Amino acid sequence: MTDIDEMKARYLTQVDAAQDLDALEAVRVAALGKKGAISEQLKTLGKMSPEERQTQGPIIQGARGAVADAIQARKDALERAALDAQLAGERIDMSLPAPVAPAGSVHPVAQVMDELAEIFADLGFAVATGPEIETDWYNFTALNIPETHPARAEHDTFYTAENGPDGTPMVLRTHTSPVQIRTMTSQKPPIRIIAPGRTYRSDSDATHTPMFHQVEGLVIDRGIHMGHLKWTLETFVKAFFERDDIVLRLRPSYFPFTEPSAEVDVGFSVENGKRVIGGDPEGPNGGWLEILGSGMVHPKVTSACGLDPEEYQGFAFGCGIDRLAMLKYGMDDLRAFFDGDLRWLKHYGFSTLDIPTLSTGVGA
Ligand code: PHE
Repeated sequence: MTDIDEMKARYLTQVDAAQDLDALEAVRVAALGKKGAISEQLKTLGKMSPEERQTQGPIIQGARGAVADAIQARKDALERAALDAQLAGERIDMSLPAPVAPAGSVHPVAQVMDELAEIFADLGFAVATGPEIETDWYNFTALNIPETHPARAEHDTFYTAENGPDGTPMVLRTHTSPVQIRTMTSQKPPIRIIAPGRTYRSDSDATHTPMFHQVEGLVIDRGIHMGHLKWTLETFVKAFFERDDIVLRLRPSYFPFTEPSAEVDVGFSVENGKRVIGGDPEGPNGGWLEILGSGMVHPKVTSACGLDPEEYQGFAFGCGIDRLAMLKYGMDDLRAFFDGDLRWLKHYGFSTLDIPTLSTGVGA
């Protein structure tokens, strides 16, 4: 073996052994750098006789080429390995749950609205909406509350300074019942809707805020009677409070837009020193809590919406959402709902990942 062959073999071994780009660069400098061993050999060609150069030239050039090719190949391999390692290190598994809980939380009112939508969707109800600034006609007149009716005064209505399209002052809706009118005048029966949303009355204490939330329910079809109303309310309340032993009490009442009308109480009892919805309301420390107003849609209301009351009947109910949330999740001051106190939201709020479903329990 000539010196050159030996040199070539040595550098090829070193190239193979180089574990990183720095080590490989050191081999390159030692072999092919300005003062590298193979470069020094190339310089000797100039001093050779033409015959000698004829034989030595291809040998030295061959060694230089072989080592240079080996270095390039090794460099490519090392770079590919480095990229693979980097990609493996930066791999993100999109199917993993979020590593930290999201900073925000879902307000109990929003959570309860989602629960209501889930429960009523299962019963075939769609979700309807209406404007919060209403005309007198939708909020009162069409609901059989004429101008002289005492119910107008009872509602502590907020009026706007400017008149609406019908020439009368607009109001901040005092209940979600105007959505009944908007639905009956825009859809054909059969109608099954709930309408959750904001409502306003000039009233303020521990259990009343000027803005609060209601959910309206409306069913219009042929042959609808009070039994349908009672079954629907019982099914809803049992699903919402997630107990089967809940009893409802329907008390005769009065609303201008329903006839007959009933206020609905839910039975509570005391279990392990705690008041709970459900159980025996006639037992020790048990009792009744009013949760909603309801009744059969008044023929004057169906007529005002252009429907024939002889053909179509229905029931409606209106329920305070904030109160439902308080009863289910145990808050006692309504005003705290709207204070925006982060500590309260953190304590009573729900995870954005906690989507109510009937199969997992609507309030899980
Ligand atoms: N709108 C009534 C209220 O706010 C509740 C209600 C709705 C009663 C529908 C009967 C039917 O008090």
